[in-house]
Amino acid sequence: MGSVLIRGGRVITAADDYVGDVFIENERISLIGESLDVDADKVIDASGKYVLPGGVDPHTHLDMPFGGTVTIDDVESGQTSAAFGGTTCHVDFVIQPQGSTFAEALDEWRSKANGKQMIDMGYHMAITDLDEGGSLEELAGLPDQGVTSYKLFMAYKGALMVDDETLFRSMQVAADSGALVMVHAENGDAIDVLVKEALAEGKTEPKYHALTRPPETEGEATNRAIQLARVAGAPLYVVHVSCQEAVEPIALAREKGWNVWGETCTQYFFVDYTFLERPNFEGAKFVYTPPPRDKANQDVLWNAVRTDILSAVSTDHCAFNWDGQKTLGQDDFSKIPNGGPGLENRLQMIHEFGVRAGRISLNRMVELLSTNPAKLFGLYPRKGTIAVGSDADVVVFDPDKKHTISASTHHSRVDYNLYEGTEITGSPEVVLLRGNVLVENDELVASPGIGQYVARARFGEELKAETAVA
Ligand code: URP
Ligand code: ZN
Ligand code: ZN
Repeated sequence: MGSVLIRGGRVITAADDYVGDVFIENERISLIGESLDVDADKVIDASGKYVLPGGVDPHTHLDMPFGGTVTIDDVESGQTSAAFGGTTCHVDFVIQPQGSTFAEALDEWRSKANGKQMIDMGYHMAITDLDEGGSLEELAGLPDQGVTSYKLFMAYKGALMVDDETLFRSMQVAADSGALVMVHAENGDAIDVLVKEALAEGKTEPKYHALTRPPETEGEATNRAIQLARVAGAPLYVVHVSCQEAVEPIALAREKGWNVWGETCTQYFFVDYTFLERPNFEGAKFVYTPPPRDKANQDVLWNAVRTDILSAVSTDHCAFNWDGQKTLGQDDFSKIPNGGPGLENRLQMIHEFGVRAGRISLNRMVELLSTNPAKLFGLYPRKGTIAVGSDADVVVFDPDKKHTISASTHHSRVDYNLYEGTEITGSPEVVLLRGNVLVENDELVASPGIGQYVARARFGEELKAETAVA
């Protein structure tokens, strides 16, 4: 790759906002200044544009077997869609198959990615089995391989759910190994009872997905995870927070100064319970977990991201086609594969309805979509900011570009879009990964293989450029 000069853009990080030039050499930002006098192989005129650090999405599921099928986006299609949306790095979940070691699981996930990567990526390890498969000793060694976060599902009984003993033992290991514990916080036992009762009463439509997972089950599990993490001495990150009942215990923990963080996902700001009631099985498009909630929660979530009760916005991209995959649950809502798409539209939607609507500042948007995920998941300052020495993962963003979001133009393989028909102003114009142009003027420029696996730093540690790529 040659050198690149991004000239005259409005550079926005979590902390700064100024007009300047950004010069890139050897995949990193080497110089930032006013009217830089340098020769470059490529010059990008960014006047009137924002120059943002590439998005970091800490929560995605690509090529993942789930709910009797496999997500429709593999690494190549999912990451291509991410690139068009201005996301240049993500952390995907390795799901430990029951009976497999963590090493086997990691090998399997790496082989799915090999040769297909369009953006940089890391892995979280989702622990499902500490009896027959992975051991506590093996778990403790994962941070040495750059896998510095452990995920536990407190729901999906009979599939991914772990009991409290497994959760707590994993937290104890994390406290020693320097990993961050992530939880999907819902009370899986109570939900299982409610699902069985609903089905026994002949309640099979998509809306029962939400009605059998009330917000209290999310609030209870969130509080339980927070208290157990306190006992174990582990840092905790609560994924996909959807409602007031879960925001409240996180707010309390953070007020007390405990090591607790939370994220929400783009969809929880926009999709509410009524979407599940759409006729002709269209509601199935919105079957993801936790489910879309009553609309009143949307203001609660905006307030939480504005005030740093919640510290990140991810997508939880877990895409299944409506036709052929969601329809597995045509006669039984519990058989609808859980998950929704969104990797491509996070920046557009949060810019439109967060920044342009006056709910959050541009700096806060960058912090939520890039800087905080990079800091929490051991990628900062290599990722998550525009600074000398950082990877040149840069989005030149046109704040005036109009676009209508649609499945007919998005780059994911999935056959619908959660935000179909939404008109937004502001979209990525050029997206660079380590100085390589991925997307320019709505065209994919790079080829698969350009993305790399990033070995992440332990929780609370910085990732220096020279230590990173495995
Ligand atoms: O419905 C969802 N969210 N599917 C992906 C798995 C998870 O719970 O994150
Ligand atoms: Zn989850
Ligand atoms: Zn998820």
